[in-house]
This record gives sequence, C-alpha cells and structure tokens, in this order.
Amino acid sequence: MRQRPLASAAGGARQTNLTLLAVLLAALATGGLAFAAGTGWGGPVLVGHAVAGLAVLVLAPWKSPVVRRGLVRRAGPGRWASVTFGVLVLLAVAAGLAHATGALTVLGPVSAMQVHVGAALAAVPLLAWHAAARGGVRARRDRSVRRALTPPRRGPGNPNGVPRWVGPSPTRPGSR
Ligand code: HEM
Ligand code: HEM
Repeated sequence: MRQRPLASAAGGARQTNLTLLAVLLAALATGGLAFAAGTGWGGPVLVGHAVAGLAVLVLAPWKSPVVRRGLVRRAGPGRWASVTFGVLVLLAVAAGLAHATGALTVLGPVSAMQVHVGAALAAVPLLAWHAAARGGVRARRDRSVRRALTPPRRGPGNPNGVPRWVGPSPTRPGSR
C-alpha cells in the first residue's frame, strides 16, 4: 500500500524521537556507570558513553523539523519546558566535549565536568516529562482522535468527502 506523505513524516519523527530516547538513556547509564566505577574513566564504558553522547548531535538534523513543528503548534509553559530540556542536553554535550578534549576544563568556580554532570542530571526529569507528554500513549491517542475529527478533504480518491474512519462498504447501495 502506498503511504501518505503525512503518515511517513509522522513515522520518521517517531523513529527519531525513539532513537533519541535510546541514546539519551544509554548516555545517562554509561555516564553513571563510569562515575560509579571511578577507575580513571577509561575503558569500553566511556567509549560507549562518547558514542551515545555524540549520537545526540548526529540526530539533530532529523530532530530539527520535529522541534520546528512542535514550536509552531503550541505556546505556553510546556513549550518552554521542552526548550529548557534542549538547552540542558546541548550544554551537557558541549561541556562533555570541552572536558574530553581539554578545550575548556574550568568555567569560573566550576569544572567543565561539574557543568556536564549537573546539566545531564537536571535534564533527567525534563526528559521524563517530555517523553511522557509528547510521545506517550495519551499524546498519541489525542493525536489520532484529532485526526479522526478533522473534516475530510474532497479529492480524486474521495470525491464525496467521506471521513477517513468510514471504511468502504462492499454493499453500498448504488455501488453496482
Ligand atoms: C544526557 C546525558 C549525557 C550526554 C548526552 C553526555 C555526553 C557526553 C559527551 C558528548 C562527552 C564527550 C565524549 C568524548 O568525546 O570523549 C562526554 C564525556 C563524559 N561524560 Fe557524559 N554525557 C551525559 C551524561 C553523563 C553523566 C550522567 C555522567 C556521570 C555521572 C557523565 C560523565 C562523563 C565523563 C566522565 C566524561 C569524560 C570522558 C573523558 O574524559 O573522555 N556523562 N559525555
Ligand atoms: C535530545 C532530546 C530531545 C530534545 C532536545 C527535544 C526537544 C524538543 C522540542 C524543543 C520540541 C518542540 C516544543 C514542543 O513541542 O514542546 C519537541 C517536540 C516533540 N518531541 Fe522532543 N526532544 C527530545 C527528545 C524527544 C523524545 C525522546 C521524544 C519521545 C520519546 C520526543 C517527542 C517529541 C514530540 C512527539 C514532539 C512534538 C512534535 C509535534 O508536535 O509535532 N522528543 N522536542
């Protein structure tokens, strides 16, 4: 079956969001693990951590249309909570890179590593909220209800403007 462009765009956004969720959870887990292990930060755990952290940047071009659409769609505090979340994640990545490359190890009274871990930990509750409010079951249900209630468009495939949720009836009167 041919996919509608809208459906494939929504599918792509969902894939991007779920991939971001996975890499953020991986970054948090490996960061925490390396911290708990505390042995010079070496080894495969930190390599995994760097890969997961940098994957956030790699995914940015795919996330950017999702962000733009979300920002156009809604105003209010939820929007600013998402933007704050974005700023914290970027700050964590930037401070992680600054520390790892040695480009910037202290920022006034705090170290780049303190900024890194602080920003990452502050992002955790916002991540939980963002994923639940924007990507959760309830958000998806609301979107599908909205889609079902949207007045149908007339077009070549739908000359009578029949709502999408009304399936074709095999015994429609006058259809034969
Ligand atoms: C949103 C979560 C996080 C992201 C996106 C993230 C991302 C990054 C990035 C991009 C780097 C630079 C990697 C490199 O080029 O070597 C880094 C380094 C580092 N991160 Fe994280 N991080 C996160 C959470 C954490 C947490 C929670 C901890 C510890 C409790 C942590 C500990 C470290 C350490 C110790 C390094 C330095 C590794 C080195 O010296 O090579 N990170 N992180
Ligand atoms: C690096 C991680 C992420 C950042 C920085 C980020 C940031 C944003 C921002 C700024 C918006 C636009 C404002 C808004 O709608 O509230 C947004 C929208 C959205 N995000 Fe995220 N997000 C991230 C990860 C996720 C994850 C993990 C999920 C779901 C599991 C998700 C699902 C969504 C959804 C469904 C939208 C709304 C799109 C629309 O209304 O069309 N995001 N995100």
